Amino acid sequence: MQPAVIAPSILSADFARLGEEVDAVLAAGADWVHFDVMDNHYVPNLTIGPLVCKALRNHGVKAPIDVHLMVDPVDRLVGDFAEAGATWISFHPEASRHVDRTIQLIRSSGCRPGIVLNPATPLSWLDHTLDAVDLLLLMSVNPGFGGQQFIEPVLGKLGEARRRIDAAGRPVRLEIDGGVKLDNIGAIARAGADTFVAGSAIFGAKDYAATIRSMRAAIG
Ligand code: DX5
Ligand code: ZN
Repeated sequence: MQPAVIAPSILSADFARLGEEVDAVLAAGADWVHFDVMDNHYVPNLTIGPLVCKALRNHGVKAPIDVHLMVDPVDRLVGDFAEAGATWISFHPEASRHVDRTIQLIRSSGCRPGIVLNPATPLSWLDHTLDAVDLLLLMSVNPGFGGQQFIEPVLGKLGEARRRIDAAGRPVRLEIDGGVKLDNIGAIARAGADTFVAGSAIFGAKDYAATIRSMRAAIG
């Protein structure tokens, strides 16, 4: 298994002070910046786009930026995010008309591709994609909002995804997103995740460093 990655979701940051907030979580020990893009079409909420990604790079953010696209259609935004400095670009395959084309587009634009499966979206989407992606993100809430409750049956799905990744024999990251807290992150790690998105659990805490340290201890 690859070393654990903690990726705070800036959805729960104070957007009026976004640059400082990102500097603060990175100084507190976060590995990646999780960047939630919502379009009021694929999901019933509207957030941030490539301009904000670019602004973080211009601000001096060097850490990997993990762009989670909750948009439909997908392809038109891939180049914009690559130019804006995205490191990872993940998308929901039901939102793309040509899933393999989108994966190739992400890779050829210099980013690392990931696919995202909602809580009720089956792992069979991996049948013809797992060999082409570098990351699988399992949603443990329905996408659209921070601060929701972790959907427990996703733990079993994580275990199954871990087996499929190990059988494939490539270093594909297994990321979990939604409702990740100090009190469940240990169980989530034991179920097979190696990459942990946490929004409200980190940005809602007073001490980012203490929270991230406790999360790492719970992951073990
Ligand atoms: C939800 C987003 C998540 C969200 C997680 O659609 O993809 O990244 O910010 O927030 P928490 O950790 O508060 O559930
Ligand atoms: Zn996300």
